[in-house]
Amino acid sequence: MSGYALITGASSGLGLALAEALARRGRNLLLVARQRDALESIACELSQRFGVEALFRVCDLSEPLQVSGLLQELEDSERQIDLLVNNAGIGSAGLFVEQDWSREQELIELNVLALCRLCHAIGGHMQRRGAGQILNVASLAAFQAGPLMSNYFASKAYVLHFSEALRSELAPYGVKVSVLCPGPVATAFFRRAHLRSEGLARRELLASPEQIALQAVRGLEKNRAIIIPEWRQRLLPQLLRLTPRALARRIAMRMVRPLLPRAGDEHA
Ligand SMILES: NC(=O)c1ccc[n+]([C@@H]2O[C@H](COP(=O)([O-])OP(=O)(O)OC[C@H]3O[C@@H](n4cnc5c(N)ncnc54)[C@H](OP(=O)(O)O)[C@@H]3O)[C@@H](O)[C@H]2O)c1
Repeated sequence: MSGYALITGASSGLGLALAEALARRGRNLLLVARQRDALESIACELSQRFGVEALFRVCDLSEPLQVSGLLQELEDSERQIDLLVNNAGIGSAGLFVEQDWSREQELIELNVLALCRLCHAIGGHMQRRGAGQILNVASLAAFQAGPLMSNYFASKAYVLHFSEALRSELAPYGVKVSVLCPGPVATAFFRRAHLRSEGLARRELLASPEQIALQAVRGLEKNRAIIIPEWRQRLLPQLLRLTPRALARRIAMRMVRPLLPRAGDEHA
């Protein structure tokens, strides 16, 4: 039986673009997210357009019991995952202590714990098989602290460091691990996190998800450790290393503040 690429958060945005880019290259897909209708129509469309097998599984990855259910089902079906794409993620913004704790907890469950758990279970199978590939989606936010988006930035720092370390651990077993660090992308991410993205759009700072997905797939093919899709943004980690951390925090805060909702916005 040929294997599957399991993509989390495949019902929209970057996950959907990654699913399409992988289907175009003939990969069978297992799409995971919460919105059944979206997953069903995406799976149907991609299998018709690219002649691949596209399955889907509804799962709220911020619920540990549902993650267990997904893993158990994979185990029972003996479906082989040869590419795991941990893409599902959410943001939150504003003064951390003023945010709903339930949203902050959901962010950690999804961005950190679910990703870590899928790497543990599916990465374990890959290690025993001596083959497989993992792509974890972090962000450019992973390289620094992000006041006013503190939990989100920290979750992505976790994903970056965890993925780099896992790469070194699994390389001797033939398992490749990469981490994707995009800058701002034109997706529902901003709306869902109650962030304003008009300023970024006006300054043409939003990449298209298709552009990012293409760079991600190319990065995977080259087995890059860290994939930063936009060439200008590749300088950021080096620049940050030379910047005093207090200054980096001030700059990050200045960049996040205009994204916050204002009085009169629906979610302000
Ligand atoms: N957009 C950006 O500027 C940007 C920049 C850097 C990194 N990223 C990262 O890119 C990844 C994808 O985000 P995106 O920009 O494509 O945003 P998006 O369009 O909002 O997509 C998020 C995806 O995650 C899924 N998801 C959300 N909560 C979930 C849950 N509890 N369980 C299962 N799936 C869930 C959503 O599907 P359902 O609603 O159907 O569950 C959706 O498919 C995230 O990790 C994000 O942090 C985004």
